[in-house]
Amino acid sequence: PVLARAYHEKVISHYEKPRNVGSLPKNDIDVGTGLVGAPACGDVMKLQIRVDAEGIISDVKFKTFGCGSAIASSSYLTERVKGLSLEEAGKIKNTEIAKELCLPPVKLHCSMLAEDAIRSAIRDYRSKRSASKQPGFVDV
Ligand code: FES
Ligand code: FES
Repeated sequence: PVLARAYHEKVISHYEKPRNVGSLPKNDIDVGTGLVGAPACGDVMKLQIRVDAEGIISDVKFKTFGCGSAIASSSYLTERVKGLSLEEAGKIKNTEIAKELCLPPVKLHCSMLAEDAIRSAIRDYRSKRSASKQPGFVDV
């Protein structure tokens, strides 16, 4: 019961106090921006990552215009990906997010939005880096 209660509070706190809300400077070369929408409901999520010289996600921010489950999903995801490599972060599945937050089946697409957002942020970061390859510029 103690464990169940602790878990419950952790989940609720993502709804009530979302972590890492905000923006990173979109034009920074070490920032990747993912902007995705859910066709099912029209909700929109923006997720940004900052990647350090070792290819590790050092900072994450999000803004979600959507339901509570979408906000909780993005909040959970930001905490989950901080400190991960891009490869590790790209493998996170919406089913993990949904399970962690106890999302009901009708809310599965809300966690899908978070999975799409991190993938899209990683893609954006990678395409920016490959577009800016210059002599002396060390790629990760
Ligand atoms: Fe409490 Fe899922 S058991 S939120
Ligand atoms: Fe669409 Fe949650 S209801 S993102």
